[in-house]
Amino acid sequence: MAQTTIKIATIAGDGTGPEVTAEALKVLAAVEKLEGFSTDVESLDWGGARYLRTGEIVPEGGLDLLRSKDAVFLGAIGHPDVAPGILEKGLLLELRFKLDQYINLRPVKLLPGVETPLAGRGPSDIDFVIVRENTEDLYCGVGGFLKKGTPDEVAVQQAIYTRKGCERCIRWAFDYTRKRNSPKKTLTLVAKTNVLTFGHDLWWRTFQEVAKDYPDVKTDYNHVDACCMWMVKNPDAYDVIVTTNMFGDIITDLGGILQGGMGVAAGGNLNPDPGGVSMFEPMGGSAPKYTGTDKINPIAAINAMAMLLEHTGQPAAAARIERAVAHVTGTKMKGQAAGKMGYGTKAVGDLVVAALA
Ligand code: IPM
Ligand code: MN
Repeated sequence: MAQTTIKIATIAGDGTGPEVTAEALKVLAAVEKLEGFSTDVESLDWGGARYLRTGEIVPEGGLDLLRSKDAVFLGAIGHPDVAPGILEKGLLLELRFKLDQYINLRPVKLLPGVETPLAGRGPSDIDFVIVRENTEDLYCGVGGFLKKGTPDEVAVQQAIYTRKGCERCIRWAFDYTRKRNSPKKTLTLVAKTNVLTFGHDLWWRTFQEVAKDYPDVKTDYNHVDACCMWMVKNPDAYDVIVTTNMFGDIITDLGGILQGGMGVAAGGNLNPDPGGVSMFEPMGGSAPKYTGTDKINPIAAINAMAMLLEHTGQPAAAARIERAVAHVTGTKMKGQAAGKMGYGTKAVGDLVVAALA
């Protein structure tokens, strides 16, 4: 059988991004040997440091370079000397938009041994997935100021929703729910139709229409405020949630803490269309004050690498990493994964590598 080679670009980024990326790559190298495939990894120095040096965020030709890859792995961006918003918009959102990564897939899965702040809950209670639309809404960057800096200042920040944009996301979420095939097999739309009576009416109507093509998938609806309550009170009721970009940003942080925090939460920015390039990232930020301290949990980055492999045609490798991670969190790291690690970043990577075989 011909060897498959997956072409990956890594943007390790700022702060602790490079440290956690290194652990994810260590696990990748080990799993390649075990599963018999190869990768061609090109590491890109994009991020805060390069921006401060050259003024460039995504360099000339950078998008085309990414388009020539099978997937992108992003460590973290955010630099203490760069004003908020510059790198977020110039790098992360730029790539999501220009590569049309219209799905932000964020599993909320409590691994064995990982502490959740929810009393009395365990891994069997917290295992759902949030599908966040990733290209529209308040993130579209449309708006402006009037009379800026005066007492009469006006700021406008538009939310844009398109039929095409919400339909492709909703349809993908139905397909995903069908494939996931959990006993619940339920897709819940989370929005705010009682107030956002235009934009979220479009989402609501589209959801109802698309649902007709998936009679085997049960549907539900939550207003976003109620969803925050239910995620805490009855997380076990959820299977798959589909939601708008802004609400998805917020509820995925809530989901992240339910599963043990940013040290374990990972996500994928997917362009599921033919030839589309997707990007995988740990959900946490660059945590600059921990740079070089070997303190950040790399499990989130390792989980992101598993998602990358799942989406680039290596589901067995992804499953092997998931099993190894669950073994490590459930044994040596038991009770430690949530912000009080007894192992350093590198040691955790080594534990996962050892558990792969
Ligand atoms: C996330 C982050 C980003 C977002 C920021 C860094 C722009 O919070 O990936 O959830 O708001 O989408
Ligand atoms: Mn966020």
